[in-house]
Parts: sequence; C-alpha cells; structure tokens
Amino acid sequence: MGEPIEIVLNGQRRRLDGVSPAMTLLDWLRGPARLTGTKEGCAEGDCGACTVLVDRLPVNACLALVGQMHGRAIHTVEGLRSADGTPHPVQRALAESDGTQCGYCTPGIVMSAVAFACGGEPPTPELIHDALAGNLCRCTGYRPIVEAVTRCAQSSGPWPMAPTIAIDTGSRTFDGATVLHAPRTLSELLQLRAAYPDAWLLAGGTDLGVRISHDREVPRRIIHVGGVPELTMLAEHPDRIEIGAAATYRQCLPAMANRAKPFAEMIRRLGSRQIRSMGTMGGNIGTASPIGDSPPVLLALGATLHVASIRGRRAIALDDFFLGYRRTALAADEIIVSIDMPLPAADETFDVDKVSKRRDQDISAVLGAYRLRVIDGVVRSARLAYGGMAATPARARHAEAALIDAPWNAATIERAVAALVNDFKPLDDWRASADYRLMVAGNLLRRLHMRSTGVAVELDAL
Ligand SMILES: Cc1cc2nc3c(=O)[nH]c(=O)nc-3n(C[C@H](O)[C@H](O)[C@H](O)COP(=O)(O)OP(=O)(O)OC[C@H]3O[C@@H](n4cnc5c(N)ncnc54)[C@H](O)[C@@H]3O)c2cc1C
Ligand code: FES
Ligand code: FES
Repeated sequence: MGEPIEIVLNGQRRRLDGVSPAMTLLDWLRGPARLTGTKEGCAEGDCGACTVLVDRLPVNACLALVGQMHGRAIHTVEGLRSADGTPHPVQRALAESDGTQCGYCTPGIVMSAVAFACGGEPPTPELIHDALAGNLCRCTGYRPIVEAVTRCAQSSGPWPMAPTIAIDTGSRTFDGATVLHAPRTLSELLQLRAAYPDAWLLAGGTDLGVRISHDREVPRRIIHVGGVPELTMLAEHPDRIEIGAAATYRQCLPAMANRAKPFAEMIRRLGSRQIRSMGTMGGNIGTASPIGDSPPVLLALGATLHVASIRGRRAIALDDFFLGYRRTALAADEIIVSIDMPLPAADETFDVDKVSKRRDQDISAVLGAYRLRVIDGVVRSARLAYGGMAATPARARHAEAALIDAPWNAATIERAVAALVNDFKPLDDWRASADYRLMVAGNLLRRLHMRSTGVAVELDAL
C-alpha cells in the first residue's frame, strides 16, 4: 500500500492523493493544483519558463517528479503576492523596467530573480547573468530584465517567504502508474536495488526527468537515491574531496571554488542554476554520456568511485569505469556511493576548458581537462582527458606519452597535438564535425601551454 506524498506549497501543507509519483511537478501544478502561472516551454530543462523554488532554490518544475518533492517547500509565482494583493517587488520592477512583453517567460524569470534576491549574493553583473542564464526570453531582450533584477537586488535585503513546515521524511514508497521508492538508509537502498535491478535509479532527475517530461515515458519503478546520507554528503580532506554520488552541483561548488578552481569554473557553466540545484555528479557519471562534463575532469584528476551492493563494496578507478557508449563497469545490483577526487598538488598544473556553441546552458562540443607536473622545465607526469572525442569520456594516452619526460615547450606540445589522432576518432554530429573536434582538442593543448607561459592570459582576457 503506497503512502501519500506531502509537500508545503506556498506555505500551505498539501497532500497529493491519487497522484502518480512520476508525474512532473509542472504537470501537477498546472493540472490538479490549477496553478497555471508556472509555464511549460520546452519540457526539457532549457527555457526556464517552469522555474519554481524548491527549498528556496530555483528548479525546473518540468524535470522534477512529485515523488521526489515529498517533504519539500515549493514556492510558485502565485505565492509571491502579498495578502493585500500587492505584487512582489521583483514583479513591480520588471513591469516598471519594461522587462516583459508577451509575458510567457516572466513567471520563470521572476522566480529566478526572487531566488537570487533572497540568496543574499552581491548584485554584480556576473552573478545576475549567472542567475538568469537558465531563463530564455524570446521577445523582450535581456537588458531591461537585468536592469530590473539589479534594481531590486540593490534596493533591500532578502525578502521574506512563507515559512517552511516540517514534514516527516522517513523512508517511503509512493504508488501510482509508477512505484517510487524513497529510501533513507544505504542498506534499504541496496536491498531495493538488489530486488529491482531494472528500476530507474533517480538522483536529481536532470537526465531521467527529460525522458518523463519530454519523451513521456512512464517507468514502472523508480528508486530515488537523494535521501540517503552516505550519498548526499561532501567531505573535504587535505589531499582530496569525497563527494557523495547524490550531492548536487550547487552543494559541490564552494569546495571546488576553494580547492579546485578550474573545476568550479566549469561547473558554473554546466546547465543553469536550476540544473545545478538538482543535478549530481553521480548522475553525470551514471548516465555515461560521451559529452558529460565532470567525467573528463575527474579522469584527469585520477578519481576513484566507491560502489556498493548487498554483496559488498568495491572501489573502481574512473579510468576503468567507462566500457563503451553508455556502458559502465557497474553491475546490475550496484550503485555509486561516492567519488573520491584527489586534489592537484601545489606544484601541479590543473586546468579545464569547455568549448560549446553557447557560453551558458549548453552541452560541450569538446571538453579538455589536464593535470600535469613540470619540474625544471621537464614534464614528469601528465593526465589529459577529453569529453566529446570518443564514445566515452577518455584519457589521451598517446598525447600524454608524447609529453612525459619531454621539455615543456612548443615543440613538445606539437608532438602531443599530432598524437591526438591516435587517441581519438571523434564523431561528426550537429554539435561539431570530427575535424573540428580534433582541431579544437589540439588547440586546447596549445592554449594550456600558452597559459602556462603567460601568453594566453592576455588572449583569454580579450
Ligand atoms: C537543460 C540541461 C542542461 C544540461 N547541461 C549539462 C552540461 O552542461 N553538462 C553536462 O555534463 N550535463 C548537462 N546536463 C545533463 C545532466 O544535468 C547531468 O548529466 C547531471 O549530472 C545528471 O545528474 P542527475 O542527478 O540529474 O541524474 P539523473 O537524471 O537522476 O540520473 C542520470 C543517470 O545516472 C544514473 N545514476 C544516478 N545516480 C546514480 C548512482 N548513485 N549510482 C549509479 N547510477 C546513478 C541514473 O540511473 C541515470 O541513468 C544538462 C541537462 C539539462 C536538462
Ligand atoms: S519547460 Fe522549459 S525548462 Fe521547463
Ligand atoms: S516576454 Fe515574451 S518570451 Fe519573454
């Protein structure tokens, strides 16, 4: 017998009776809840028209499943109006700045702006840009929208939102067209995985949610991993960071910014704030896409995965994890528990470059990540990894061999660039041609060298 999903919606406790746990939050809001202020544009996390706040963070309601939302506080645009009907200051500012025309994107933009204003970040152009990067507007143009958000964020401190109400979040099973299990302990999770190896293992749902929202798939069974403490933890050690597989990008960002800055800069370009509030590194590895952004970085750093099943635990070097296109070394009953990410030493170079058609909210055509040690002008160790160059994220072993024990100079780099053709036979697709990808991968190596000699610093600034 299933249990009821309960949420706090705009400050009111709500019980979602008779609702399948795999219904998207957007479908529930616009359907049974009759809150049509939240819009559907793309149904795949790109446009931001469906942005709502979940525990005060912006989230794409089209990708979030109601079963994932149990116990969480959700704010929609309808909840912003004060009791006497006065619009929220962000709404007023958008209207006064001519920041809306057809209005379709506006509720999503309002919710992203409210999240930003309530988050207490300084209203710098970079941060406002980042806060709005997941919201597309096809008719107004962004200047008046940015002006409105700047004005509001400067004018006052955080605005009050409805207080949250605690809901018991013990282990649950929700029933409907889909059965969704929400375990709260690792042993329950492993038992469920062993019993249902074909169930969808759901972390943030920014990949799997697209299959439900956009492709309208109805899975029979889902196991949600996001409530298990071993998977949501993050621990910093002197030489490494341990990242729970279900820790969100947002959760990882501060540690990365302090300890592995180029990784943090890449994460700020992964999806949007909405995607980073929900998406996880375990999901990025588990989905095993050749163009996933964190796997090449973790490969360059030499990460290890800790995986578990009811049969026991084991460690797998990420080098040995990706077996082929979307194929991994994970057994059917295993899950990724955590990622052990070594940190570069002070005398090592660590860098990451993401090349995509758009700067923000875009999947990489090529992503290069590098960790190397140069002592007295000679390369002593090198790990180069790329995304977008093969059926899996992969190391460039021939290029690494061309670097190791060679002088760190332009001639060595050219030998490494030439070796890349032995490492990769990239695909042609609409994102980039094979020739372009190879050329970019080589140019990124040249840029790495130029940066280390100071030449590219000026070019990067242009
Ligand atoms: C609009 C948009 C923009 C995006 N931009 C980027 C981008 O710039 N770069 C990028 O790399 N990706 C991007 N993505 C893809 C996605 O956000 C990432 O892959 C994300 O890391 C997936 O994490 P998740 O927790 O949401 O995974 P989910 O969707 O929950 O799961 C993804 C896969 O991982 C498996 N999985 C999850 N947790 C585990 C676990 N603990 N053990 C084993 N398997 C597990 C699931 O079973 C599933 O197969 C984007 C997606 C969208 C919708
Ligand atoms: S409808 Fe476009 S992001 Fe959700
Ligand atoms: S106002 Fe029309 S899409 Fe933004």
